[in-house]
Amino acid sequence: MLRTGSPQEIQLHGPCVLVPTMGALHAGHAALIRQGVELARARHLAGGCVVSIFVNPTQFNDPSDYARYPRTLDADAQVCCEAGASAIFEPSVETIYPAEAPPPVPPLPRVATSPGLEDAFRPGHFAGVCQVVNRLFSLIAPHAAVFGEKDWQQLQVITAMSRSLGLPVEIHPGRTVREPDGLAMSSRNRFLKPEERTVAVAISEAMIACGGCETPEQAEQVLRTRLDRPELHVEYAVVRDAGTLESTILGGRPCRTLVAARIGTVRLIDNMPWPLD
Ligand code: PAJ
Repeated sequence: MLRTGSPQEIQLHGPCVLVPTMGALHAGHAALIRQGVELARARHLAGGCVVSIFVNPTQFNDPSDYARYPRTLDADAQVCCEAGASAIFEPSVETIYPAEAPPPVPPLPRVATSPGLEDAFRPGHFAGVCQVVNRLFSLIAPHAAVFGEKDWQQLQVITAMSRSLGLPVEIHPGRTVREPDGLAMSSRNRFLKPEERTVAVAISEAMIACGGCETPEQAEQVLRTRLDRPELHVEYAVVRDAGTLESTILGGRPCRTLVAARIGTVRLIDNMPWPLD
């Protein structure tokens, strides 16, 4: 498996499927990589599946969050290799953000600023995500890219950005991988203290509990009740249109439960379809 910071070297191996990450890889990332490997094989892409690992400074609104973001490159290489990746693209900050020609921030799609969701708590976050993903796409020119449903709003934002810019990259969603008790896997879970880890499972349990409610309003009430715990600081717990992420839900449209909450210093997000089958 190739490891390089050079986009030219990646492109030399031919068209590929890209799995963009910030490293600290876990089983959720590994599942996306395996999906990328399968897709590359099915499409006969000579470049196979390429994993990018870059902790992107422009998407962190809290400098201490950026500073403490886990960096575990050697273990990450092991995960990529075992999942069948062909290459790791590990660029320097200078490669992504050359001082002489800073990459543009693309116009933000409307879904990036849906009221009360990520933008309300992490202003500027999606501008940074769009900037880096657009930059990665232009450096690597992948045929397709895989993004996790775990970051549901991010997936909608990137899909909308690619469409509006007319980027020739297929965007494929990957299912959320969970711990046996239901907690969505995340690079940040390692920061949870044992007692906080026990509380964290309340998030997925609340989403499951509201999955059978008759109306979105009832579902949000169940979420609020279930998440009303002193250790949990809830930022949002809502049912929205799954595509627009607006609170106005038209009959027949798929919906999504979305939750963001802090436990101690750790911010967790998760989502599920609503209603649940
Ligand atoms: P990161 O948090 O490293 O996530 C990389 C990819 O893994 C994202 O598409 C994310 O949705 C997916 N992912 C995370 N946890 C998952 C889980 N439990 N199951 C399945 N997929 C999961 O998201 C980012 O990095 C960055 O914003 C990035 C897109 C790389 C831009 O910098």
